[in-house]
Amino acid sequence: MTASFPQLRMRRLRRQESVRRLVRETELFPSDFIYPMFIVPGRGTRTEVASMPGVFQVSADEALNEVSQVVNLGIGGIILFGLPSTKDSVGSEAYASDGVVQKAIRTIKAVYPELLIITDVCLCEYTDHGQCGVMDGPHVVNDLTVDLLARTAVSHAEAGADVVAPSDMMDGRVKVIRAALDAAGRDDVMIMSYAAKYASAFFGPFRQAAGSTPQLGDRRGYQMDPANAREALREIDIDVSEGADIIMVKPALAYLDILSRARDRFDVPLAAYNVSGEYAMVKAAARAGWLEEERVVLEALTGIKRAGADVIVSYHAMDAAKWLQ
Ligand code: PBG
Ligand code: ZN
Repeated sequence: MTASFPQLRMRRLRRQESVRRLVRETELFPSDFIYPMFIVPGRGTRTEVASMPGVFQVSADEALNEVSQVVNLGIGGIILFGLPSTKDSVGSEAYASDGVVQKAIRTIKAVYPELLIITDVCLCEYTDHGQCGVMDGPHVVNDLTVDLLARTAVSHAEAGADVVAPSDMMDGRVKVIRAALDAAGRDDVMIMSYAAKYASAFFGPFRQAAGSTPQLGDRRGYQMDPANAREALREIDIDVSEGADIIMVKPALAYLDILSRARDRFDVPLAAYNVSGEYAMVKAAARAGWLEEERVVLEALTGIKRAGADVIVSYHAMDAAKWLQ
């Protein structure tokens, strides 16, 4: 026999916070979050990104101030992006041992050896054309790009990165990066692959922050078509079989179905990237007085976790961690 109204009253479980707290299915912790940071060369630089209020491009010395807050708030880690001093057609500074990210890793690890440092591995911030790999006419060349990504990953690992996160969407990159890390004696370094990464307009503000807008064309020749879900599961399956330790779905909010399906199908840790455009929309509406920022951010992050994410990369990480305290 199952109870029904009037014996069954769902609202009994919602009347008071003591019970709501007891039956809550999803809870956010600061340790769920990864905070993205944009590193510029030089010293003493801290420039706010116009389209991302509260997000700054920082030099490595300034990054230490932000990192101290990340550590004090108990945030899970950081992911680094670099804006190099020089760009060229093959993204040389991406894999230079004294590149902007490599130097920042060393600076941060010297002060905070315990902090989890993830690095974004891609060429788009480092190429003069702004595409994620080496070009042949209008196309990005896959296998040559993969070799350069592997060099980049090894150089990050040698500088002290704990996790490398390829975000390029080339075929076979996880396999080649894993082999290169192992050959370099870095079998302890993890790979968090941007496995299901969509060709999304929600990356707009990031490209301003990272100076990585393609000069010509777009990224639809390698990033996924937003219309496809089954294909995302294939991508994830491939990356898991190539040795990815953590897989990522990106963006997050318009792709919660992908996260949920990935959660059901795969037993690997799952990350979601709450991307720049998702952040910018909330910030703009909050500034206009149209949304309550704290409630909206925590609701969105809870939704991402409820859909299945173990790890949430978000520009809201610092604020959310403060609100959760
Ligand atoms: C580099 C990269 C991008 C993002 C993360 N790594 C941009 C892109 O692929 O166009 C997007 C992050 C964001 O929008 O917050 N490939
Ligand atoms: Zn890229």
